Amino acid sequence: MLPPNVKSRSVVHFRVGSGTLGFMVEMIAARGLARRFKTKAGLVDAVRGIDLTVGAGEIVGLLGPNGAGKTTTLRMLATLLTPSAGTAIVAGNDLRKSRAVRRNIGYVAQVGGLPSPGTVLGEELLTQARLHGMSRPDAEASVLDIAGRLDLAGLRKRALVELSGGQRRRFDIALGLLHSPRLLFLDEPTTGLDPQSRANLWQHIRELRDDHGVTVLLTTHYLEEADALSDRVMVMDDGRIIADDKPDALKARVSGDVITIGVPQPDVAARSEAAVREAAAVRHFTVTDTALIVTVEDGTTALPPLLRVLESAGVRPASIAVTRPTLDDVFLSLTGRSLREGDQ
Ligand SMILES: Nc1ncnc2c1ncn2[C@@H]1O[C@H](COP(=O)(O)OP(=O)(O)OP(=O)(O)O)[C@@H](O)[C@H]1O
Ligand SMILES: [Mg+2]
Repeated sequence: MLPPNVKSRSVVHFRVGSGTLGFMVEMIAARGLARRFKTKAGLVDAVRGIDLTVGAGEIVGLLGPNGAGKTTTLRMLATLLTPSAGTAIVAGNDLRKSRAVRRNIGYVAQVGGLPSPGTVLGEELLTQARLHGMSRPDAEASVLDIAGRLDLAGLRKRALVELSGGQRRRFDIALGLLHSPRLLFLDEPTTGLDPQSRANLWQHIRELRDDHGVTVLLTTHYLEEADALSDRVMVMDDGRIIADDKPDALKARVSGDVITIGVPQPDVAARSEAAVREAAAVRHFTVTDTALIVTVEDGTTALPPLLRVLESAGVRPASIAVTRPTLDDVFLSLTGRSLREGDQ
């Protein structure tokens, strides 16, 4: 699989589809990246000196409320905005070498304005491919390939104004992929889409990574999106990255899983507390009139021994539920505020 000249695993080149994709361990490495805006109302520190790393082949979600600094971060990394401070290597090139960076990245902006009425999907893709400097046959091949990947092949003769929200977003992503970038920035790829179109777009984004090796850094303020789509989530608030880990690891840090066991005899359940505590590493133990509520680190492994001690104590559960903390609990524990408030 590896070409003979590749000795270390730090840089691995191989061919996927029609383009050669270079894989590095780090696709983005930013240090102390900051951006301050001067406005009439005064200075705004949109991004306050962040360190950020994205590995090749990762899908990383930048999650945060409105105004957290997500778009500003993405625009700096995509060379569209000059940082006030800090440095970054993006797709193997220093951010200051913007042309070299741009050759290797695609950028899909937050939802913008309406397209002009006469613009036809296939023609627009072709025009944009030609603007990337491709010959006509190369541009046609690239458009065919990318339209196929994003399920747009049957829509090439459609006017952009006639597309549904989900189709339009897939077209936006197709535009960002025409020059076969190794790294794709997606700013709120699914905002405003219905749940089905959102799930469909997630699938396409996963395929870009799984089948074509594209690294993806996306922003979102949808908790479900960060959770379902990202290998790793960076939580951003007020210009800072306040947490950075796999979604499950972030959730595990917060409060553990909650096991709720419906019980007809709460007095018996209360008497079994000592046995329950012995059976599982219990963080909290509460008995209500109808249920035994136990917080443990991992509900799936704690449940079987817990049920065994309850059975020995003569407690017959009427119902059992294991609830895991959400990314909202993570945000709440970090900031004291809920992300849900800004999540529509
Ligand atoms: N060009 C600009 N001039 C002045 N202030 C700006 C500019 N761009 C962004 N800001 C400010 O910087 C802060 C961060 O904005 P940014 O767009 O990065 O947030 P965001 O996390 O993308 O939010 P959203 O979820 O609403 O898209 C905000 O306070 C915003 O008002
Ligand atoms: Mg934004």
